[in-house]
Amino acid sequence: MKIGAIVLAAGKGTRMNSKYPKVLHKILNKPILGYVTDAVKELTDKKPIVVIGHGGEYIQEYFEDTYLYRTQDQQLGTGDAVKAGMDALEDEEAVLVLCGDAPMITAETLRTMIEQYIKDEAKAVVLSADIEDSKGYGRIIRINDGPFERIVEEKDATEIEKLIKEVNSGTYIFDRVLLEEALNGLTNNNSQGEYYLTDVLEMFKKQGQRVEVCKANDNKVILGINNRVQLEEATLLIKRRINEKHMMAGVTFEDSASTYISSDVIFGEDVVIGPNVSITGNTTIGDDVVIGPNSIIKDSKIGKGTTILSSIILNSELGENCIIGPFAYLRPDNVLGDKVKVGDFVELKKTKVGDGSKIPHHSYIGDALVGEKVNIGAGTITCNYDGEHKYQTIIEDGAFIGSNSNLVAPVTIGKEAYVGAGSTITKDVPKRALAIGRSKQINKDNWKKKN
Ligand code: UD1
Ligand code: CA
Repeated sequence: MKIGAIVLAAGKGTRMNSKYPKVLHKILNKPILGYVTDAVKELTDKKPIVVIGHGGEYIQEYFEDTYLYRTQDQQLGTGDAVKAGMDALEDEEAVLVLCGDAPMITAETLRTMIEQYIKDEAKAVVLSADIEDSKGYGRIIRINDGPFERIVEEKDATEIEKLIKEVNSGTYIFDRVLLEEALNGLTNNNSQGEYYLTDVLEMFKKQGQRVEVCKANDNKVILGINNRVQLEEATLLIKRRINEKHMMAGVTFEDSASTYISSDVIFGEDVVIGPNVSITGNTTIGDDVVIGPNSIIKDSKIGKGTTILSSIILNSELGENCIIGPFAYLRPDNVLGDKVKVGDFVELKKTKVGDGSKIPHHSYIGDALVGEKVNIGAGTITCNYDGEHKYQTIIEDGAFIGSNSNLVAPVTIGKEAYVGAGSTITKDVPKRALAIGRSKQINKDNWKKKN
């Protein structure tokens, strides 16, 4: 069966008190909407259709062509929103409808709904959940506690209906042709003057079509976000869900409550993660990596057996068995070979470092090509910027840079060359040479006046 998905995201999200649309607020570095479409992605190859309205340009700017977009000009209700998305469908026979602000939905739950839709030969399945505090949700009305009858919105409900704990999640699967027909027949005779998608289900029933309810066994999957308190609640739940998945797969967390890992990170086996660590973006961590407390790693690849202590690593690739930190700062675009040491208070940017090289303390190395087995002494600085342009520093294999040297780029330090401590190097150093670029020491005898 070909299945499409329409995700509703045109609402403003007033209670977020934000200039950005609600669905773009992030949970572990990924917008709320991304979680919804991740779940959908596992079930259909079709691009999700996202209905946008308020702040739609921000959504398009962020997600670009990941989605098909349709715009709902005025927010006339969920039925009207789905209608705006329908023409982006191609040859799909069934349509999933989801709320863009409910990130806890899982592919597993959607799969259960689809299975029920097929098995029962239903024309619609709605996902429900039992909730203690059902305030604000549409309630599921059943005939004598049995088959589905209709959904009543909170604002249209009687006092007795308001006591019902089973609520509408806002997630559905519909027969595409019947949905299209029903949407064209929707009216807005209700307390909010809106076109309710939920009325489609009642119309189906009146036509004698089969409508089923799929009740979620974990009511958290339906949690929607309306304000930043709920945003934090969802963050904690999603964080726990992600961390548990990794623990079950062989990653040790010393304190998972303080560990923030975004959903796309990939781990090898026997990784150990200390407290207060954040790992996000497109990151891969190899086997036996140790990530000490207070580290931030984003969009990076960390090779097997590497140890990272209290450091920040952005958009970089590290080889195997490296030692990083404490307090190293790897700004974007570094590539480190194997057994590289980048020690305390070292900043790297756009730098390639060959196998076995060491930059142990207090250095800034930017726009540099560092060969293998190079030793860079404490306090070495690449002077890569003249106020207008950036220039490259090349340090060839086996070179030894004495402490507190300034390498004024563009400059090349040849293979196995030496730079004397405290030098300011402005000219290339030939291979195996010793360069000393500092003023000679003068000792003035008996300088201290007698008194
Ligand atoms: C809706 C359901 C309710 C359900 C609840 C679950 C209807 C009539 N009611 O209520 O039964 O319990 O969701 O959270 O469907 N949206 C648009 N365009 C619009 C209106 C809404 O795109 O014109 C989007 C919103 O951005 C949001 C989603 O649809 O992502 C749900 O809208 P919302 O206003 O929150 O619906 P509820 O009143 O909460
Ligand atoms: Ca809502």
